[in-house]
Amino acid sequence: MARTPFIAGNWKMNTTKAEAVALATAIAAGTKGPAEVGIAPPFVYLDAVSAAVKGSAVKVGAQDVYFEKSGAFTGEISVAMLKDVGVSFVLTGHSERRHVLMEKPELVGKKAAAVLDAGLILVHCVGEKLEERDNGTTFAVCQAQLDELPATIADPAKLVIAYEPVWAIGTGRTATDAQAQEVHAYIRGALAKKYGKDFADAVRIQYGGSMKPDNAAGLLGQTDVDGGLIGGAALKAESFLGIVNAAK
Ligand code: PGA
Repeated sequence: MARTPFIAGNWKMNTTKAEAVALATAIAAGTKGPAEVGIAPPFVYLDAVSAAVKGSAVKVGAQDVYFEKSGAFTGEISVAMLKDVGVSFVLTGHSERRHVLMEKPELVGKKAAAVLDAGLILVHCVGEKLEERDNGTTFAVCQAQLDELPATIADPAKLVIAYEPVWAIGTGRTATDAQAQEVHAYIRGALAKKYGKDFADAVRIQYGGSMKPDNAAGLLGQTDVDGGLIGGAALKAESFLGIVNAAK
């Protein structure tokens, strides 16, 4: 099954507005090749970044969302607001939201459902901590995080899973190609059990965790690795585009 690789940059809590616009502009100008490309700036720069990449193939994404439609939820942002500023994909369950901001599985699941209900692309992040890898519960942890997803999803093109081993995020330590492939294959099998094989075969599964231009080709060359979710290396156009161009 040929799946179009999806390379997305998660800028986290970085950049000024001017840096965000300059980075987005450089990425839009430098994006070529077969991969789909996305960038997720901080909320407050979404509008400006959407304007900067207008007319290019670069998709704009949000790092988070709240599941309610509107109302008295101080500080929160709805899917409708995200759509209004040109967002087409949204992350849920990122490890920093799970383990730093202490989001519970129930909340992550409600956010994921809200993104899908709105017709946006969901990038749902899963991944084990180091002690979970060491005690042999990697698959169980990923399974529980996949279980947060709705029981039915209409369109596999609207679902992307990002496998991000927590011990590899921002640490410079990357999963080996084989470690990534092993978990990606598990995830595809879990999706096949829940949604059927054809659906699972169509879902893109990104790897995330210290992906860089020099390790991207090996990871992206694995059968079940269909792209990357990039943190640190997404903050410079040169390194991000190096990864984009490694995707075949
Ligand atoms: P990293 O972050 O590339 O800096 O490890 C990846 C992520 O958190 O999505």
